[in-house]
Amino acid sequence: MPKVRENWGSKIGVILAVAGSAIGLGNFLRFPVKAATNGGGAFLIPYFIALILVGIPVAWIEWALGRHGGKYGHGSAPGILNAITRKPWAKYLGCLGVFGPLLIFFYYCYIESWLLGFSWYALTGELGRITAEGKIGAFFGDYIGLKIMILGGIPSAFFFFLVTFVANFIVIILGIRHGIELVNKIALPAIFVLGFMLLVRTLTLPGIGSGLGYMWNPDFSTLLNSKVWFEAAGQIFFTLSVGIGVIMTYASYVKKKQDIALSSLTACATNELAEVIIGGTLVIPLAIVIYGASNIAEIAKLGTFGLGFQTMPVIFGKISFGGFFLFVWFFLLFLAGITSSVSILQPAVSFLEDDAGMGRRSSIGIVAFITFFFGLLAVFGLDGGAVDEMDWMTDFCLISFGLVETIIFGWFFGIDKGMKELREGAEIEVPRFFEFVFKYVTPASLIFILGFWLVQNAPGRIFLNGVKEAQVKFGLWEVSNLTVIHGTRIAMLALVIGICVFIAAAWKRRRIDERLEGIKI
Ligand code: PHE
Repeated sequence: MPKVRENWGSKIGVILAVAGSAIGLGNFLRFPVKAATNGGGAFLIPYFIALILVGIPVAWIEWALGRHGGKYGHGSAPGILNAITRKPWAKYLGCLGVFGPLLIFFYYCYIESWLLGFSWYALTGELGRITAEGKIGAFFGDYIGLKIMILGGIPSAFFFFLVTFVANFIVIILGIRHGIELVNKIALPAIFVLGFMLLVRTLTLPGIGSGLGYMWNPDFSTLLNSKVWFEAAGQIFFTLSVGIGVIMTYASYVKKKQDIALSSLTACATNELAEVIIGGTLVIPLAIVIYGASNIAEIAKLGTFGLGFQTMPVIFGKISFGGFFLFVWFFLLFLAGITSSVSILQPAVSFLEDDAGMGRRSSIGIVAFITFFFGLLAVFGLDGGAVDEMDWMTDFCLISFGLVETIIFGWFFGIDKGMKELREGAEIEVPRFFEFVFKYVTPASLIFILGFWLVQNAPGRIFLNGVKEAQVKFGLWEVSNLTVIHGTRIAMLALVIGICVFIAAAWKRRRIDERLEGIKI
């Protein structure tokens, strides 16, 4: 029998939670770099096309599948896909919807903890001092290399990792309504207030016009490059948090007849506002104003993290009230991070609770154990390439699971039933044109994107093109980077197999339970 499941306290609560999941590091660090290096303003063309043809449709699909599954007591992909298709294999495809979010959490939580650490160092003024001495690059390297100590010898990065990890789990323990919903109700407005403050500071800098000009000056020739289209679609998936099962889980806690069509659009729009307007105005235009466009290629080589963690302190070191705005920058990112990271924990917790029939405490305990254990792999293995491995696996999971969801929605659930679900309680009219998009356009686009990824990106990643063997640090030990890379692969594969075994066991148990209760499956 389905147990009584939690619900969101209000409609605005779930919208804020989904928007909170969507607005994350992707908006403020990943997007500006992708846009600036892929044609500036021209990047917005494939970006918005991907938003309409895959982003918004897959978000709607996840909301619809999720709320539908919730009616049957399921909150994660294995149960939902199984309930919809009634095919035994479908639940194993759902494995990706439990594994994928966990995979993101393993490294996302560590990066989020740097933001907490850097907020702390910005607040104490230490970051400003180090930057003024021109040592920020070395400081960042030492910080992530676990060489900066705090509190009598604990590596600072490890300390902040523990704090961030525990903070995430406190939110999960408090539950959907009193944890996730409450945190988002506070953090999301705070993100916009802090973002707006930074926006105003940036737009009042002399010379900002040239920075914005550089960022958004369209280079249409890039549109002939298929990589630009792929990156645009990848960014849409990552930033909207779609295609990985997170929204499905959140939607499973929505009340049966509560609107999902407009809620989904509102959450997407809120994310785009934060991404294009705030994200697109801060990092790159600021860097241009301070460094000049001629040096930007050098700076871009520092990559997303270099820009966020090393360039931003230098920039704020040069403007008035910079120390304060530096704190605002890191704390804004930390808040954006935590509202995303709690969302990627919930699918696994829901899976254990709803489908494996475990109690809340043990479900959370198991997820905490797994994420801590594999999180350490990201903490210690960063140097050896563990996070890079997890990053390409994330791309793969996002696109392939997005495709699975779309095909199951359009072809197994059926467009008629799917549209009926989406329209139930809807506060807007979903145009009929989307029936065609759901059934043909979105899956075809995703097959194209996945095919492109498999041919162009995957081989280089899988066969480690350009990676040279080197000795790296893994915590206290010196090991080969290849050991770290292969170790990460084996660990992730073992986790996928482990989840599949869990799924098999859960369904065996359900069958026995249902037989005992005399219910026909
Ligand atoms: N959308 C988040 C960001 O922009 C990342 C994320 C991806 C969160 C997938 C949940 C699921 O940072």
